[in-house]
Amino acid sequence: MPLVDKMDSPLPDSIAKPVGDGPALAKREYLPSSFPRKFFILAMLLLDASLLRAFTAGDAAPVSSKPLPPKHLEWSFEGRPGSYDRAALKRGFKVYQEACSSCHALSHVFFRDLGGGPGFSPAEISAIAAGYKVPAQGAQKDGGAQPMRTATPADSFPPPILNGQAMAMNGRLPPDLSLIANARAGGSDYIYSLITGFGRMPPASERIAPGMHYNPYFPGHQIAMPPPLTDNGITYTDGTKPTVDQQARDVVTFLAWAADPKMENRQTSAFSVILYLILFIGLLYLTFRHIWRPWH
Ligand code: HEC
Repeated sequence: MPLVDKMDSPLPDSIAKPVGDGPALAKREYLPSSFPRKFFILAMLLLDASLLRAFTAGDAAPVSSKPLPPKHLEWSFEGRPGSYDRAALKRGFKVYQEACSSCHALSHVFFRDLGGGPGFSPAEISAIAAGYKVPAQGAQKDGGAQPMRTATPADSFPPPILNGQAMAMNGRLPPDLSLIANARAGGSDYIYSLITGFGRMPPASERIAPGMHYNPYFPGHQIAMPPPLTDNGITYTDGTKPTVDQQARDVVTFLAWAADPKMENRQTSAFSVILYLILFIGLLYLTFRHIWRPWH
């Protein structure tokens, strides 16, 4: 029944009372019953979506700001069985110390752990720890400055702090690198591509905000981290040439070890277990043959 018909009926004197003849309103029809209702709803939805797109087109990230797929490198620790290159781990630690540790924490790695992967001697570990200061526990007086003490091999790497504040750059915090190799899609390949992916000119369609750096491997292409590596920025003691590529490979190896220091042990145990199972199944089979021989 058309709604216009209802206009003639007197208006109710309370909102609790129905307008017109009440139940008839519930059945009112805005569309001719012949019009397929589903098409109408579909058309409205499509119109809605296209309007929304038209209004938000300016803000939407352009398709090109998707990160580039990381370069794929052959890592010694990704094979089966994988192993960490000891020399690369030692060099990578030096790169972390000299090029990353001023901004990035490594709080899940303890100084004593450096004896395991990179294979530093106890004396070397003590010397490394002695170069760091950690908060002295329980000694802080009300409102006073946090007293510090020299780190020992039993401490973990302290986070970098600037004037009592975490090292935020352009409002973005440098993440802790202890588990970063596992925490990012693409793992080692991604970190390598990211830290070697600076220095290119952004395409004209992308505007880089002040204080940000163009890096096509980073989601959104703008990162607050400045290029951390330069050729010869580190002096290697083993005669390796410290190119950006070499430093990146070494620090990525070190970070992969930090994120999974038990990888080699795990693979050795897995190999022993499989060998044991094969021998055990062989023995079971021979026992089976032996027991059933009289009946064969
Ligand atoms: C001057 C400070 C600074 C130095 C030095 C630095 N970084 Fe960063 N790094 C940052 C900041 C800030 C971010 C956060 C960037 C962002 O979210 O825009 C970051 C982010 C990262 C990320 C995470 C990217 C992601 O996907 O979220 C990785 C990995 C990284 N840095 C590795 C390194 C490595 C390896 C080194 C040393 C070779 C290093 N950084 C040196 C400041 C630094």
